[in-house]
Amino acid sequence: MNKSSEKPKQPEKLGVDEYECPICKDTELVLKRDEQGYEIASFCECRERKAWKRRFKQALIPDEFIHANFENYKRLNPFQQTMYQMTVDYLNEFSVLKQEDGTKKKIIPNKNFGLIAVFGEQRLKELPIGERSIVKQQHNNFGIGKTHLQIALAKRLIKDGFNVLIVSDVTFMDELIQAKMMNDEGETLNRLLHSAIHADVLVWDDIGKAKWSEAKEALYYQIINERYRKQKPIVFNSNEDRGTLSEKIGYAAASRLIGQCGPYLLEVEGEDFRLQKSG
Ligand SMILES: Nc1ncnc2c1ncn2[C@@H]1O[C@H](COP(=O)(O)OP(=O)(O)OP(=O)(O)O)[C@@H](O)[C@H]1O
Ligand SMILES: [Mg+2]
Ligand SMILES: [Zn+2]
Repeated sequence: MNKSSEKPKQPEKLGVDEYECPICKDTELVLKRDEQGYEIASFCECRERKAWKRRFKQALIPDEFIHANFENYKRLNPFQQTMYQMTVDYLNEFSVLKQEDGTKKKIIPNKNFGLIAVFGEQRLKELPIGERSIVKQQHNNFGIGKTHLQIALAKRLIKDGFNVLIVSDVTFMDELIQAKMMNDEGETLNRLLHSAIHADVLVWDDIGKAKWSEAKEALYYQIINERYRKQKPIVFNSNEDRGTLSEKIGYAAASRLIGQCGPYLLEVEGEDFRLQKSG
């Protein structure tokens, strides 16, 4: 039932079964008469469900992580346990308060949450080849569930009513650069920047993965600094460490990003879950 490809119909002409919600005919409002006979509008019961669906769609959850949640994250060793616990602690910083007038107030922490490497990719590349594989094994940061846990976090927040945007570094930076070169007076770029800056929570997967350029460094700064000024949180993970992340996204951006983590910055390493499964 894909209505978007058809010409818009007059709502009156749709049959009852063509509406997702027959009660309100998808207006999300229902009219009732009060004792004096006046019509008053109130929200339909489907409103919350639809809002949740919309938020879920808008969040852009990658296909690979459709099933990722807290329940199916295995905690078999201390590092998995620590990562899991910090993610849950961070989740608990959020809450939704029901106010006297019936509206809800979202409580959002002004802290960022980062899972980064002990020994960053960039640093690894600078080592002589022989040493590289040893250090790589000692400090593996790949496939240890950083994205899994942060997507699980995002899903919970979406369910609780927060607007979450998930971006993946390489794709997102490419999109921004392309938008910058478009001949549309900055419209596309501004739209992308606006959603990244205004989402309640921005989840930035694999930050610092994209190849460095001056234009990208300016974009990292713009988004991170704007969110910093607005006290809006960024949830991020990276294969870089404190030092090398600065090299990839710029010192000014990295210092705000990391500085704003408070207790929620964890240097993580462990066994690659992807290799365990195949081996
Ligand atoms: N403890 C775990 N329990 C269950 N599944 C896990 C666990 N750790 C990782 N996985 C799964 O292994 C795969 C790799 O994990 P994930 O992509 O989250 O790792 P990552 O740390 O983000 O790696 P990379 O840095 O390479 O992006 C995913 O499919 C994820 O669901
Ligand atoms: Mg990842
Ligand atoms: Zn309805």
